[in-house]
Amino acid sequence: MKAIVVTDQTAGTAGMTLTERPDPSAAINDAIVQIHASGYVPTELGWPSTWTDRAGRARTPSIPGHELAGVVTALGYGTTGLSVGQRVFGLADWHRDGTLAEYVAIEARNLAPLPGDVDFTTAASLPISGLTAWQGLFQHGRLQAGQSVLAHGAAGAVGTMVCQLAREAGAHVIGTGRNADRAKALDFGAQEFLDLETEALEDVGDVDLVFDVIGGEIQKRSARMVKAGGTLVSVVGPVETRPDEGLAVDFVVEADRAQLGEIVQRVRDGRLRTNIGATPALDDAVAALSSTARLTGKTVVLVRP
Ligand SMILES: NC(=O)c1ccc[n+]([C@@H]2O[C@H](COP(=O)([O-])OP(=O)(O)OC[C@H]3O[C@@H](n4cnc5c(N)ncnc54)[C@H](OP(=O)(O)O)[C@@H]3O)[C@@H](O)[C@H]2O)c1
Repeated sequence: MKAIVVTDQTAGTAGMTLTERPDPSAAINDAIVQIHASGYVPTELGWPSTWTDRAGRARTPSIPGHELAGVVTALGYGTTGLSVGQRVFGLADWHRDGTLAEYVAIEARNLAPLPGDVDFTTAASLPISGLTAWQGLFQHGRLQAGQSVLAHGAAGAVGTMVCQLAREAGAHVIGTGRNADRAKALDFGAQEFLDLETEALEDVGDVDLVFDVIGGEIQKRSARMVKAGGTLVSVVGPVETRPDEGLAVDFVVEADRAQLGEIVQRVRDGRLRTNIGATPALDDAVAALSSTARLTGKTVVLVRP
């Protein structure tokens, strides 16, 4: 099969190559999925799991990409709940070969049925950003109607999902980012916007929930803005400064079939819009993914356009 691989951790995106790899085979409880579209997160080549397996052994050449939408073509020993020919979407294991390829072997529990009226490109944009927003807001952040949410990077792939889901849940959403992102953040549900480059973060006032996708100084200052009983949720690694009277949680998104179902249902009925940016074909993806131009929105590689 055709796949994009990386072999050299020091090379960055310049080390990505489109090549031929053996078709994957299905392990116990796996499905083989013929990929139609694959999401990509620009920070992937910095994740240890791109380079090592769960035992810490080098696993290169590895195939990046962890979000997929496609069609099941085979099932492994003991696999239940899915059938050959079924449309699916989901989140692939961090430590296994990923989705910038024509086929992937993936545990069935990481997949959810994809309704026929949602196209593959839309579906491939949802797993990481949608599940991250869902789990950060509702599982880790325990968001309630009437609470306030400070959504950093509000115009980004995760941020636009955070803004929409928090609004739907009845929260007051203050988005942040660069001034160029103001209109987009407001369009995706933020009721206020703060330009982190020119405005004082503290002017926002205290909030119930901070959803951080940026880290560093912004996160430290945000921690001090969390109300008593509130939560700072980070998806960019361990929290260095904790709220005085609140919780701090950092987490890595997990696959969840029921939550994927909730997310895709919202796309179908118009409660959730996608924020898709570049959509290169697999043949052109190496150039697109290694470009130094600023990416806006979720990058989705069209494997079977
Ligand atoms: N732990 C997890 O499970 C998990 C899951 C998903 C994502 N993540 C991480 O979360 C981060 C965001 O992911 P994403 O896909 O949403 O990325 P994205 O689409 O690039 O969104 C990030 C947004 O934040 C803005 N931003 C970043 N730094 C900023 C700063 N200093 N000032 C103002 N705006 C700033 C970006 O603007 P610019 O483009 O102009 O910088 C962009 O609009 C990444 O580091 C990713 O690895 C973690």
